[in-house]
Parts: sequence; structure tokens; C-alpha cells
Amino acid sequence: MLSLSRTCLRAAALNRVGTRAASAASAASAASRELPAQCHTTEDYISREDQYGAHNYHPLPVVLKKGEGVFVYDVDNKRYYDFLSAYSAVNQGHCHPRIIEALVDQARTLTLTSRAFYNDVLGEYEEKVTRLLGYDKLLPINTGVEGGETACKLARKWAYKVKKVEKDKAKIIFANNNFWGRTLAAVSSSTDPTAYGEFGPYMPGFSTIPYNDLGALEEACKDPNVCAFMVEPIQGEAGVVVPDEGYLKGVRRICTENNVLFIADEVQTGLCRTGRMLCVDHEDVKPDLVVLGKALAGGVFPVSAVLANDEVMLCIKPGEHGSTYGGNPLGCKVAMASLDVLVEEQLAENAEKMGQILRSELGQLPKEVVPVVRGKGLLNAIQISKAHDAWDVCLRLKENGLLAKPTHGDIIRFAPPLIITEDQLFECIDIIKTTILQM
Ligand SMILES: Cc1ncc(COP(=O)(O)O)c(C=O)c1O
Repeated sequence: MLSLSRTCLRAAALNRVGTRAASAASAASAASRELPAQCHTTEDYISREDQYGAHNYHPLPVVLKKGEGVFVYDVDNKRYYDFLSAYSAVNQGHCHPRIIEALVDQARTLTLTSRAFYNDVLGEYEEKVTRLLGYDKLLPINTGVEGGETACKLARKWAYKVKKVEKDKAKIIFANNNFWGRTLAAVSSSTDPTAYGEFGPYMPGFSTIPYNDLGALEEACKDPNVCAFMVEPIQGEAGVVVPDEGYLKGVRRICTENNVLFIADEVQTGLCRTGRMLCVDHEDVKPDLVVLGKALAGGVFPVSAVLANDEVMLCIKPGEHGSTYGGNPLGCKVAMASLDVLVEEQLAENAEKMGQILRSELGQLPKEVVPVVRGKGLLNAIQISKAHDAWDVCLRLKENGLLAKPTHGDIIRFAPPLIITEDQLFECIDIIKTTILQM
């Protein structure tokens, strides 16, 4: 059992990071329960995680045990619509049979070789993705944050080898409120004190400018040491912040004019989530580097990738970058099946259509409660007015059979799997409207 002091520390820590005091207290009281030998109830499972796991997350109090399509089920067999999709990793729906079949088949054959040897799947996967997205080459890694890190390393190498920036002077620009993960490099570019606070010293050569501000980018790019601008086409974790139309085109123009690489972080926005294969396709622009992750493996296995043309990708030579699991045949097979599902089930088209219905319906909610509805495709968010509490809304949505998570206090992201049907979507809209009108 947790000691009282640790329980109190836990509660204090939760408060410190800005989570609700009541939730912290309930987590603390769950943590102080006597743990049973076996878990049966929601509280049992939460208490066990609380006791043996690091306290680096603050989940909604629901314990899931099964997923199927747009649904997840808790330990009491209650069914919920999943409106988070594991932060847009499960675009293809939970446990998509085709992806699971690819996983199981390959798991019985060969899972990992490391890159010390070739394997018979990686080349096929690289060819498939590069042809689909129109780049010369792909660099395979595992998680989204490794993808961002890889893109930054490629940009720095390119700066010294091609742009001829003086040794150790290369600079990378990011946007305020960016999110690309939790490593020291990622938090060094963060403007969120919860993410970066007390994790210094930070990576040199990183700086930030306001998002959706082409003037600021133009100014920053005057510095000849700037080698790249890394940006999310829609800022997901910041609360689904959609830039003005023309922003991405402007970024492309400014980067080209200043010999600066445009890195699009499409880890959350990519792979049909916003109604196009890539979010940058909305403005018909081609970044120099694209970072993919999450839905690249349909929520089944961590697979990420950076795409670029030869001028950038061939700057990195053997030994200069890699990962034991990156390019493993299991992940490659899962990723190929995940991409086939996106294309063959026309999930970009469905996301576009369902997203328009969702935003138009949610736009009818009273403005005193929901002043803002925004998004593209099925990456959407509503803002809850100050008089109400987004965490409470999510708890009530949970009671009513829909799972969503607040971000930044007053924003709730609505991002269901892209396979959602119109009937299912209208059922979800009913749940959301009823819940909010009950507030
Ligand atoms: C835009 C973006 N980039 C990168 C990441 C990091 O991905 P991962 O958690 O797989 O490292 C995330 C995660 O939410 C993200 O939203």
C-alpha cells in the first residue's frame, strides 16, 4: 500500500501540473486502498497502476479491456465510442482484422533482424510508402518523437553538408505550442512549462516563433544559419489549432526562398485523419521532410518514418543514425496493411465527409456553452466556456458511452476512428448534444 506521504506527494504533483484537484484526490484515495490479489473492479485496476506505475499520466477513470472498430469496452463490458483513437493512432479502427492478420502472419515468420542484416520486407515497405507519398526515400524508426528527432538530425547534417552552415551553428525553428513528444530534444523546443520545466539544460540551436505567422517565419529565416522549420499542419496537442488557409503554402514559399528545409510533422495529422492522405495536401504543398507515426501502424505496433528526397536523405551515412527495431519486418508488414486499409477503405474521403457533418451539427450547440467548434476531417475540437469544466464534460460523456479527453483545460478533442459510419456518427452527436445540454 502507498504510504500517506507518497499519496500526498502524488496529489500535490497532480495539482502542480494543472490537473483538477478533485481528480487528484480521487486518484490518491484509489491509491491508498488495500490492493486485492486479483483485479476485478475499475478501482482495483486503477489502484494497481497507481501503486506500481509512474505517475506521468492522468487518465480518465475508465479501464478498457477490448477494442473493435469504433468501439472500446471496459472491464464491466460497457461499450463506448472511442473519440480519441489513441491520439489519432487508431485511424483504421481497433484491431482491424486485416492489420491483425498481417501482424500474426509475420509474427510467426520473422519479427526482428536488426539492421545488421537485410530482411525481405523492409525494401517492399519503403517502396510502397515512397511511391504512395512521392518521396525518394524513407528512414524507418519506431515512435513519433524519434521521427521528429530524425528529421532534426537530417536537417542539421544537410545544413553542414549542403547549405554549408558553419560547424555547430545550425538552427531549427519551431512554432509556439508545438508538440512532438517528450524527449529532451522535443521538450527543448516546447513552449509549455509543464513539458519543459526542470528538464534543462536544453538543446542549443532551437528557437520558436508564433504559429500561423508568416511574417515571423520570414524574419527568422533571414538568419543564414537557419536550416529548417518544423511545424504541424494543424497543431493537435495544442488543441486542434487550424492555421489560416494559405499558411502552408506561405511556409513552402518562405522556406524555398531562404534555402530552409520545411519539415511537416504529420504524426497526428497525417494518414487520412484530416480528410486527405497528408494534411499538407489540403494546400497542395510538398514539404522537404515529412514525419509519420501513429496511424502508420493502425494502433497495433509502434512504427514511424521520415520521408525525404535524396538531397536530404543521403546526407546521413551508415552509423550516423538508426534504431534496433527500426525497419523490423513485423512493423513493416503491419504498416503496409495499415496503409492498404487507409487507401482501399477510402478513409480520407470518409474523414472529410464525417468531419463536415460533425462540425456542422456541433456548431448548433449553444454558444454560451460551446463557443468554438473547429477542425478538419475527423481531427476536431470544441471549446467549453469558462462557466463549465471540460473534465466534467468528459466524465459525463463517459457515463453516456463516449470517450474523449480534455486538453489545455477547456478544449475537448473529437477524433474517432476514420471508419465511423454516418449512423454511428449521428449516435455520437446525440450523445454529445444530450450531455452538453444537460450541463
Ligand atoms: C504532432 C506530433 N508529433 C509527434 C508526436 C510524438 O509521437 P509519439 O508519442 O509516438 O512519440 C505526437 C504525439 O502526440 C504528435 O502529436
